[in-house]
Amino acid sequence: MIALVTGGAHGIGAAIVQRLIARGDEVVVADVDPDGERGSHFVLTDVRSFEANENAVATAVDRFGGLDLAVFNAGAAGPRAFSVSGYRDTMRVNLDATVYGVAACADVISGGSVLVVASIAGLTGSPDVYYATAKHAQIGLVRSVAQTRPGFRINALCPGLVDTRAVAAYRSELVAAGLALASPDEVAVAAETVLGDQRTGRVWTVEAGRPAALAQGSP
Ligand SMILES: NC(=O)c1ccc[n+]([C@@H]2O[C@H](COP(=O)([O-])OP(=O)(O)OC[C@H]3O[C@@H](n4cnc5c(N)ncnc54)[C@H](O)[C@@H]3O)[C@@H](O)[C@H]2O)c1
Repeated sequence: MIALVTGGAHGIGAAIVQRLIARGDEVVVADVDPDGERGSHFVLTDVRSFEANENAVATAVDRFGGLDLAVFNAGAAGPRAFSVSGYRDTMRVNLDATVYGVAACADVISGGSVLVVASIAGLTGSPDVYYATAKHAQIGLVRSVAQTRPGFRINALCPGLVDTRAVAAYRSELVAAGLALASPDEVAVAAETVLGDQRTGRVWTVEAGRPAALAQGSP
């Protein structure tokens, strides 16, 4: 299989890349950080731009002749305050990026599978208001695209807390509060499960110590 993973240089994305490479997939990593972990081919990509997403998809097609799997994983937390400052930046990296990525691959992937890495915050809300807003919208995108494009398989995975640099600043607080953090590899295992889901428009969750499970209310 030929796969594209955005945000594949670090954290969850890097774990997904390693898991796909280990099973023999060719992986294009699209990330803004060229110093991070790499797949079989790295393409410098700022996912906030539609053109950059198109370029990442085209790189996979040019190099490997097609695209079977796309994982839209790049994202970042927003400000933990309800203020307009930070709103656009948070939406750009979490939501615009996913909209652009899905649009860029929609006519290229046929018979393949698309995975959007959202978050439990996209189901429950969070003090990181705009991050949670963007994650809810990612799920809306997945459900709506699935309804609109028969034959285009797209599903969402919502991790709970995961031990990556994204939570490093408040990791000790989380642990002190008794919260469990999943490893990036636990999420990568779940991602593989969801990429293999033969249905579309479904929403999955993964939390520390538990395998991927369909979110409440997901068909
Ligand atoms: N860590 C958690 O607790 C957690 C929980 C739920 C969901 N998530 C989601 O998982 C995804 C991955 O997060 P993570 O925890 O691995 O974070 P991370 O910071 O470890 O990795 C994020 C990756 O995205 C890349 N990236 C950031 N901005 C980019 C841009 N503009 N263009 C291209 N690449 C960019 C980074 O360089 C990095 O490689 C995100 O969508 C995040 O919202 C994380």
